[in-house]
Amino acid sequence: MTEHTVIPAGAYPHYSAIMTPEQLQAMRAHAQTDPDAFWLEQAQRVHWFKNPTQGFVGSFENDVSISWFADGTLNASVCCIDQHLTDKRDQVALISQREAEGRSESLTYRDLHERVCRLANALTYLGVQKGDRVAICLPMVSEAVVSMLACTRIGAVHVVMFGGCSADAVAERLVDSGARAVITGSMAWRGKKIVPYKETLDEALQKAGENSNVKAMLVVRTSDEAVPMLPGRDYDYHDFVDHFEADFIPVPMNAEDPMFMLYTSGSTGKAKAVVHATGGYMVWAAYTMGMVYTHQPKDVLWCTADVAWITGHTSVVYGPLANGGTTMISDSLPTFPAPGRWLDLIDAYKVTMLFTAPTAVRAMMADGDAEVNKRDLSSLRLLGVAGEPINPDAWLWYHDVVGKKRCPVADTWWQTETAGVVLGPVPGVQSLKPGSATMALPGVEVALVNTEGRREEGPASGALCIVRSWPGQCRTLWKDHDRFRQAYFSMVPGLYFTGDGARRDEDGYYWITGRMDDVINIAGHRLGTAEVEDVLGEDHRIVESAAVGVPHAVKGQALVVFAIPCKSAATEVNEKDISRLIASQIGRYAAPDAVYLVPDLPRTRSGKIVRRLLRKIASGDTETLGDLSALSDASLVETLCAFVQKQA
Ligand code: WT7
Repeated sequence: MTEHTVIPAGAYPHYSAIMTPEQLQAMRAHAQTDPDAFWLEQAQRVHWFKNPTQGFVGSFENDVSISWFADGTLNASVCCIDQHLTDKRDQVALISQREAEGRSESLTYRDLHERVCRLANALTYLGVQKGDRVAICLPMVSEAVVSMLACTRIGAVHVVMFGGCSADAVAERLVDSGARAVITGSMAWRGKKIVPYKETLDEALQKAGENSNVKAMLVVRTSDEAVPMLPGRDYDYHDFVDHFEADFIPVPMNAEDPMFMLYTSGSTGKAKAVVHATGGYMVWAAYTMGMVYTHQPKDVLWCTADVAWITGHTSVVYGPLANGGTTMISDSLPTFPAPGRWLDLIDAYKVTMLFTAPTAVRAMMADGDAEVNKRDLSSLRLLGVAGEPINPDAWLWYHDVVGKKRCPVADTWWQTETAGVVLGPVPGVQSLKPGSATMALPGVEVALVNTEGRREEGPASGALCIVRSWPGQCRTLWKDHDRFRQAYFSMVPGLYFTGDGARRDEDGYYWITGRMDDVINIAGHRLGTAEVEDVLGEDHRIVESAAVGVPHAVKGQALVVFAIPCKSAATEVNEKDISRLIASQIGRYAAPDAVYLVPDLPRTRSGKIVRRLLRKIASGDTETLGDLSALSDASLVETLCAFVQKQA
């Protein structure tokens, strides 16, 4: 009965909580009664050139418009660097552990300032101006952090892309965003595998052809091997950038000026770019990270997320640096080259706060307690997770074995669109329930909406919605405000719909039950099943397909694809072809765990594919298939079950 375990806030005498439960209560009450005053106070966590006097202006109704702190001006790189140059000049801002090269680099706030300014000058020289988009596709190297900050210093909008994306996906994003410059690396190691960054970018730019606006590409050399460089377009990052001046006057940005975009998957169509605004995002990053991951002197926060995810933006770069902390990045894997690798790094770098994905916790758990017990780990004072549901067993293992019951575990629920934590505990202040992301931070009101569209009160289940705007809310989808409105504000008019379902218990704690739309979550990577089906739909050898997520012990979910091959196809298609096709169009992370070539898909009489059934068949859960009488051909179910069994 782990679901009923409650660990009182006071269970961690050595954890220095940032406030008392009474203070948290008072903060909630203040945020409730005077939200504008509350958020304008929170806005003081960051440095403004011109202080804002306006809080929220806008509406979730009609066209949906969202603006925060609209009369303020600021620069994100100043919030993250210059703001600390008086008192924290020589404090380490960034530790970059390079597994592949067996070394690490530490940059102080002063070093970071110098590097960011040089790159800001170099990008300006290359013609990048305020409002231009710059694509960043880099492994976990210090240049990734420097690049993001340099863009914000100029006022350029960064678009960080995941190294696991295929050339096709990168090409699409380069064209869609109209990026003017690209910053990439030659390659990276992921365990024993090579991630060919430069090669992928070259191929992407070739595919994009004249539709690309990319004028220059900076290449960080991440290995000794020579990489082909295109004269006039490609520049060796350090050979080029290091000659520029180490000072750059930051460009003042209006709070509502876009700061960055991130591509993410939705329930329909292709990946969409979520747009975040400078002022609201910075305040929200400083606030949410300050409430959950408070930096104290000597704290080292290691958030293991890739910079290409929202966690990599908020919990690796902007949150910790805005709060004047030390943040660590690493290109290592949790259990490679040997079990316990991350545990070794915690000891080596005296990590005090570890923040990772449930998948990584489960991977470490699979290696057994002995690996953990061999290490010291006494530097740790806080543990955190985000990105996907964590099962109470894994939560308790993380808490009891890794944290030795000394460290609170903060399970935080958020999204690319929310930019920072929405549901999550203030550690040491609230009791914890393993598997629950606790409740909303002060200033945020969430609601559960039932199938009739009404808000539920008390203990209940429903669609998780957010009632009022919060500063870090994404403002729109790049070039598609209509899709923005449709995707988030049409399901429950007047509320932001998250796409997730949740349950609220008798203590007001929230338990995420998973996505309610056709988005799946593989090891924390978000993927739309429609994206996969679109790729297959474009192949003439496939009549129709359905992609579903099934439970997976380590990855949380895995992708399974059912496809109907074309009978008259001149060239036959096999399961491997389908896997390869998806990996080449979307990325390696999207390659399915299983592909079934089937004669047909289960449909209702009106022809709608019954995914619920496919999910059950794919996960071998065939005992409780439920009522099949609404299907157009119930006998097909048996055939499909046989297909799955045969390949298992
Ligand atoms: C989706 C958002 C944390 C930001 C990185 C992921 C799922 C996120 C949790 C959690 C259960 C979670 C949701 C959400 N999710 N955190 N603590 N418990 N589910 O950002 O890629 O935009 O994905 O991840 O389904 O909607 P993302």
